[in-house]
Amino acid sequence: MSAPISATASAAAPAQAGRRQVLVTSALPYANGQIHIGHMVEYIQTDIWVRALRMHGHEVYYVGADDTHGTPVMLRAEKEGITPKALIERVWKEHKRDFDSFGISFDNYYSTDAEENRLLCEKIYGALKEAGLIEARDIEQAYDPVKEMFLPDRFIKGECPKCGAKDQYGDNCEVCGSTYQPTELINPYSVVSGATPIRKTSTHYFFRLSDPRCEDFLRGWVSGLAQPEATNKMREWLGDKGEAKLADWDISRDAPYFGFEIPGAPGKYFYVWVDAPVGYYASFKKLADERGIDFDAWVKPDSTAEQYHFIGKDILYFHTLFWPAMLQFSGHRTPTNVFAHGFLTVDGAKMSKSRGTFITAQSVIDTGINPEWLRYYFAAKLNNTMEDIDLNLEDFQARVNSDLVGKYVNIASRAAGFLIKRFDGRVQDSAMHHPLVGQLRTAIPTIAALYESREYGRALRTTMELADAVNHYVDAAKPWDQAKDPANSVALHETCSVSLEAFRLLSLALKPVLPKLAEAVEAFLGIAPLVWSDAANPLSSEQPINAYKHLTTRVDPKQIEALIAANRESLQPGQEGAAAASAASAASSKAAKAVKSKEPEAEGTISIDDFAKVDLRIAKIVDCKAVEGSDKLLQLTLDVGEEKTRNVFSGIKSAYQPQDLVGKLTVMVVNLAPRKMKFGLSEGMVLAASATDEKAEPGLYILEPHSGAKPGMRVK
Ligand code: MSP
Ligand code: ZN
Repeated sequence: MSAPISATASAAAPAQAGRRQVLVTSALPYANGQIHIGHMVEYIQTDIWVRALRMHGHEVYYVGADDTHGTPVMLRAEKEGITPKALIERVWKEHKRDFDSFGISFDNYYSTDAEENRLLCEKIYGALKEAGLIEARDIEQAYDPVKEMFLPDRFIKGECPKCGAKDQYGDNCEVCGSTYQPTELINPYSVVSGATPIRKTSTHYFFRLSDPRCEDFLRGWVSGLAQPEATNKMREWLGDKGEAKLADWDISRDAPYFGFEIPGAPGKYFYVWVDAPVGYYASFKKLADERGIDFDAWVKPDSTAEQYHFIGKDILYFHTLFWPAMLQFSGHRTPTNVFAHGFLTVDGAKMSKSRGTFITAQSVIDTGINPEWLRYYFAAKLNNTMEDIDLNLEDFQARVNSDLVGKYVNIASRAAGFLIKRFDGRVQDSAMHHPLVGQLRTAIPTIAALYESREYGRALRTTMELADAVNHYVDAAKPWDQAKDPANSVALHETCSVSLEAFRLLSLALKPVLPKLAEAVEAFLGIAPLVWSDAANPLSSEQPINAYKHLTTRVDPKQIEALIAANRESLQPGQEGAAAASAASAASSKAAKAVKSKEPEAEGTISIDDFAKVDLRIAKIVDCKAVEGSDKLLQLTLDVGEEKTRNVFSGIKSAYQPQDLVGKLTVMVVNLAPRKMKFGLSEGMVLAASATDEKAEPGLYILEPHSGAKPGMRVK
């Protein structure tokens, strides 16, 4: 059952011998939101693996789909005044475009709202029922009497039972962090209609995961998992033998619901998490039908094909308990393995809309950032564990510029000129036996194996060490000096030929990560698409190279600034309601929390980039009023050179009479997450000076610029 991921894959082996059949998936992204770079970590991780396997000549299929069903899509479509089908069609196109731009090489990208999926779901459900693993049971649930629908936890809000904060979700409080049951909320209301939810009984269908057959099966299956962290989680969920820790799984939802109706149960729908993983098979079924692949042979219990699922650590439960059990007891093979990765943070913190670090795939493209740079950066940080990975924007620029441009591409640009000018673009064949070339050639199988074991960081470190060795070689040989004396022509020819063959081998090593760049290299060298066995297939004098065209550029710091700006715009007040379920206040309190939770720099200093994140502007106080019911606050109306004025509550009442401030200029933080206060939304902060010990030395002094400053000017 476990996957023998061979760590000794022999790169030069003939493709047909030991040709494996491998089905690979990435988690299906929800159809109610945009693809962001957090998602991309997963698709890039999977794509690199898939490409590395294809380069062995194995029969590999990589399938994906949009996860379309469920309440959020239904409600969002309603809000937009379109049908769910129209919504998911539009989002599918956006997602597909993003994946294509990032070079994600799906063999089929499908939708869970497809006929193949309906049929497979019905078949699997029917088999589970047949096996006695489905049970109907009445349960009581929150119900919206106005909208006439049952409410998932995320659609109920109210006051936190612990700290009293308003507008908190049914499962946890974003202000004090406590978790609770939706029934514990004070003054609960439906997010959909605002009505107070009532309790209502309904029949639900359960997958009897508590059945000893399921437990026994899963205990065995867990031993084949590749990641010790995943195995430990599974063991925790399974508990000790006889502990009966596995609960039955509620797999039905009541109408209205966007999904597949359960056969023989009118008004009952498959819960989205049932038809989502089945969507992997549906996408593969569609591909199989198109390409004449024997679908049944790949999914039958004793299939020799392999099946892998790449997922984020947040959805491990679904993939290591429900999905294998569904497959096992419906007469299918089970996954060979599930590979979970950690979460992406940006500059050390959770991605945040207010900081502009909730970066969409689209914005990367729009700002002209080469997606392959991100592929390289993520790969350099990825390993086979579930550790989170961080995108540090400064490090990103430095790494891409120094590795890809400084170390790798440079080798080609230095060698190609001489080779073309002096040697008709042809390499010296004897140079292909140079020890440095041999060193790189023998490293290729090791690098290929590192990809296969998902140790991309190590694969790239090894590759860059080799690039260093090549650069040292060139520096020592000094081709620019060799070129000065015709007597050194043979030596010059060797230097250029060795470095160009080394460049070819480095390109081979980088190809799973940088497929587009590899294509450009193949065109430049006039060679066929590189596969692992080409390690032993050196450049030849028979095939002259083509003129060198630049292969990649440096990251421009302006692009990073533009990227942050592009994503920050999405949190102008009033625009936060991107997520179907979140009211504006929820989004802003979430953002505020993310800002709060950012740890200060360890050494007590910040970088210039950290400082640059604070957007300070000159603001004109166009109006100022006392706030009824508050003895600390003044309400300021500020002109910061935008279309609309900003509303800010500031705790400066003790120091100023409202009328004294009207018409004055001050300095405002404009990119602070808007904050919902008792008196209204505060859209920023004005700066004021006060003593460190305010008790000993009271007094508040708002900042005022020298004359000449105008509203909207940037302070830096
Ligand atoms: N629809 C489900 C998956 C169903 S699979 C049968 C889902 N969708 S998702 O859009 O929320 O996430 C898709 C994948 O992206 C998940 O594997 C998730 O873990 C991953 N990521 C989402 N945000 C992420 C980061 N910030 N960092 C890394 N991966 C992230 O879950
Ligand atoms: Zn609370």
